[in-house]
Amino acid sequence: MISSSSIDKVFETARVEEVIGDFVQLKKAGTNYKGLSPFSDERSPSFMVSPVKQIWKDFSTGKGGTAVSFLMEHEHFTYPEAIKYLAKKYNIEIEETVQSNEQKEKANERESLYLVSEFANTYFQKVLHKTDQGKSIGLGYFKERGFTEETIKTFELGYSLNEWQAFTDEALKQGYQIDFLEKTGLTIVKGDKRFDRFKGRVMFPIKSMSGRVLGYGGRILIADKKAAKYVNSPESDIYHKSKVLYGIHHAKQSIAKEDNCYLVEGYTDVIQFHQTGIKNVVSSSGTALTSEQIRLINRLTKNITVLFDGDAAGMRASLRGIDLILEQGMNVKVCTFPEGEDPDSFAKQNTLEQLTCYLNENAKDFIQFKASILFEESKNDPIKKADTVRDIVNSISKIPDRIKKEIYIQECARIMDISEEVLFSTLAQMNKKDTQEESKKTKTEQKAFEVIRHQQQPVKKVDVQYVLERKIIETLLLYGDMTEDFEDLVLKENDKGELTLEPVIQQAKVFEKIYLDLQDDEMEFTNSQFKTLYYTIIDRLNQDATFELKTFVNSVDQDMANEITTILMEDERYTLDNWNRMNIFPKEKTTSVAQLVSETILSLRCFLIDQKVREFQQETLQNKIDTNRNILEEVKDYSGLKMLLSRKLNRVL
Ligand code: CTP
Ligand code: MN
Repeated sequence: MISSSSIDKVFETARVEEVIGDFVQLKKAGTNYKGLSPFSDERSPSFMVSPVKQIWKDFSTGKGGTAVSFLMEHEHFTYPEAIKYLAKKYNIEIEETVQSNEQKEKANERESLYLVSEFANTYFQKVLHKTDQGKSIGLGYFKERGFTEETIKTFELGYSLNEWQAFTDEALKQGYQIDFLEKTGLTIVKGDKRFDRFKGRVMFPIKSMSGRVLGYGGRILIADKKAAKYVNSPESDIYHKSKVLYGIHHAKQSIAKEDNCYLVEGYTDVIQFHQTGIKNVVSSSGTALTSEQIRLINRLTKNITVLFDGDAAGMRASLRGIDLILEQGMNVKVCTFPEGEDPDSFAKQNTLEQLTCYLNENAKDFIQFKASILFEESKNDPIKKADTVRDIVNSISKIPDRIKKEIYIQECARIMDISEEVLFSTLAQMNKKDTQEESKKTKTEQKAFEVIRHQQQPVKKVDVQYVLERKIIETLLLYGDMTEDFEDLVLKENDKGELTLEPVIQQAKVFEKIYLDLQDDEMEFTNSQFKTLYYTIIDRLNQDATFELKTFVNSVDQDMANEITTILMEDERYTLDNWNRMNIFPKEKTTSVAQLVSETILSLRCFLIDQKVREFQQETLQNKIDTNRNILEEVKDYSGLKMLLSRKLNRVL
């Protein structure tokens, strides 16, 4: 674990504009910087960086946050990876915190496994490029497959000598422990004998999203019916087959940028595609796709195109696995290659233009594709056709989006020449099975529809309460930890028994003032996100007097960080437009912080009172006259209060 003081130091030192400047071309725009969004293809800039607030906001995708969250989004780093990256950039020494012995051992062990794997990776590459056997056999093989020197370097391909324990001996000589060699599977230990698992094979290192070597695939070079074509690393503490995708490290940026991921079967398919110029490609390495693997892709894009070899047999088996992708709400296309070709051979024979063109022309929507091939098979066999219908509808039932589901039903009815009613009722039957879950979902979807309908009403009313609640959060975020002089008008009774207002100056922290005032009013936030934010901020400030709000956004999860940057950057957004159109900067705000706070709270109070009065009026209308409660009196009281508040407010403004 990285110590929190190291994390603080990184946050203190790192400048968001410098960090992002390494990836995005930024231009000065007033006090901010702007640039083209690295998360979408756009022509006019909607990406903003605020050096003052030390945050960024991408208005085209809604993403935003700190320097660290930028690295997590853009480079797909984990949190510790981002911290370490920044530490390196700014020459900050990272201090690791003390862990329990058990934690330490576990972490040390994993670290040792990584180190052994990393060593092996360097070793296998050295053998490939520097030894006679490596050059003639290994390198010869890769060249024959059409891999260029550059490709071989990019994918860090290697070779393991055709000797029983050449690698193991070297690793031991370098001080690596046999225990870790065995646990990574690089060495097979049998009694007192040791064997290199990958003896005589060309090596494909399998890397994590961030580029660490987790395991290997090794391909045999001689035709041997008894030996497996590929041998892979066994499961270990660092290698979980079901959670990795071959090529993801090299593909991640391109997947996000192209907003699509090609999924192939083999190592060589990935490499050949990459070499041809299509880099958004990963492989599940011959096994059925798992939900964890899909989630890896889902972080980068909602679109997958599954590429099938020319042989039909393999494809049939894979079709079912695709339902897993639909379940995660992703859009799936499939593309097949001509008889006898696989993505590797096809890419090798074609130029980038030809390959791109082929993929674009032949990628079909998965459901339509499945419907049409199954239909072709079963059209003359009624019993088979019934199965087919169920099979297709089952796939459709996995799609979370109701509208999409409906469109697919209509589409499949057309393709399979069957009535929509039949398909809908089959779907309904299937839905019944996983009832509760599904009905909950539909309900929220229906609610969402209602909301949309509401919003479409011709006159759009400004939600005053929302605006005010948001203003309070903004004020807290920007100035919560500042100490200010607040002038308050306090009600006092004079000698004649009349109530008068007298100004009193009180010094307070902005957040305390807000908190106490809202508590007085028993005011609760109606917007749940604001409510969470509000209590989180107040909590932090209460617990730690030295806590700086500047760093607050660093310590919350991505969703909250997005919310915060949206609020903080909302006003900047207009500077984007204005600046673009008129080449001017908006006026600086001149109101004092104390004024701003008082104004916001008073406005909210006025609003709440108005609301109360309206409620009373409504009640009077409905119940005619209520004798138990003298509503008119109450309204009068509230109106008096409102006048009082208005006077206060005028004084503030
Ligand atoms: N695979 C495996 N073990 C095997 C065979 C295959 O792990 N015995 C995995 C590998 O990840 C391989 C993928 O399944 O890349 C696809 O298999 P296949 O199409 O047979 O291999 P290719 O990648 O096409 O390899 P090559 O072109 O070198 O024959
Ligand atoms: Mn192949």
